[in-house]
Amino acid sequence: MMSSQIDDDRRMSTRSLPRIGAIEGVDPAVLERGRVSTPSAPLPPKPQEVRPPVRPPTWFVKTTAAVTGILLALFVSIHMIGNIKVYAGPESFNSYAHWLRVVGYPLLPEMSLLWVVRFVMAGAIIAHIWSTLLIRHRGAKHRGKQRSPLLRAGSIISRLMLITGLVLMVFIIIHILDLTTGHMNGTFLSPTAEQSFAYENLINSFSRPLFAVIYAFSMLALAAHLIHGLWLVAADLGVTGRRTRAVWRIAAYIVGIAVAAINMSIPLAVQIGVLA
Ligand code: HEM
Repeated sequence: MMSSQIDDDRRMSTRSLPRIGAIEGVDPAVLERGRVSTPSAPLPPKPQEVRPPVRPPTWFVKTTAAVTGILLALFVSIHMIGNIKVYAGPESFNSYAHWLRVVGYPLLPEMSLLWVVRFVMAGAIIAHIWSTLLIRHRGAKHRGKQRSPLLRAGSIISRLMLITGLVLMVFIIIHILDLTTGHMNGTFLSPTAEQSFAYENLINSFSRPLFAVIYAFSMLALAAHLIHGLWLVAADLGVTGRRTRAVWRIAAYIVGIAVAAINMSIPLAVQIGVLA
């Protein structure tokens, strides 16, 4: 009696359930086992993932600015030492210019080391412009609108860096077209496999007052850029010691003024007839 009551109850509860196999798209055998109710609806399409722009860390940008700045300062210092040879006469200067083209030969192909230096310097210039402009941009973004007069004075110096940097950029283009390719030098003599005519090209170029003024003026920009740039390197590399910073500052002045003054003396010497 008791067991037939239970059987009736089971039958009743089975009748109230939905009929197996009645759900569209679902295997009746699976429903039989009671695992699946209805097929899940297709997921909505994922929204397009927006990646944040790659932001190089500031320590990396500052180190790039400092290292490329030192590389470029080294280049202009060594170049200035080579330029002094012009005072030793045409033979000395021309054989030095010729050596620059063949250095490393016959171990390496002719001009290969010169091209390595050209590529390294071009890369250093590009990385220097990128990093210094980014530091400038980040600085401007994070500074408030209200500035103390002291900070405003500081910004004049950094604005000078942008202008002197631009002057140097234009100078390098004119200088290469003038003394390396000869496009801006009507009487340019191209170097041959045996000799170079760097002395004659230089005298012909600096005999033109306009070019002498362009070179002299650019050296003023070079002095300002080097003095302040070498000082900024100390800050970028995190030099904090009071004595070290003082020595660094003096060294920046010495390098900046010496490189620019010695270079500037050459067009002036041509103009006053000391070099001919
Ligand atoms: C009055 C100062 C300068 C003089 C007399 C001078 C002289 C010269 C001469 C004669 C050459 C050609 C060498 C050759 O025949 O291969 C040259 C090339 C060059 N100079 Fe100067 N230079 C001066 C300043 C500068 C400065 C300040 C810079 C950099 C800011 C510079 C960057 C270069 C470069 C990039 C080249 C091309 C090197 C190459 O690829 O062959 N020069 N310079």
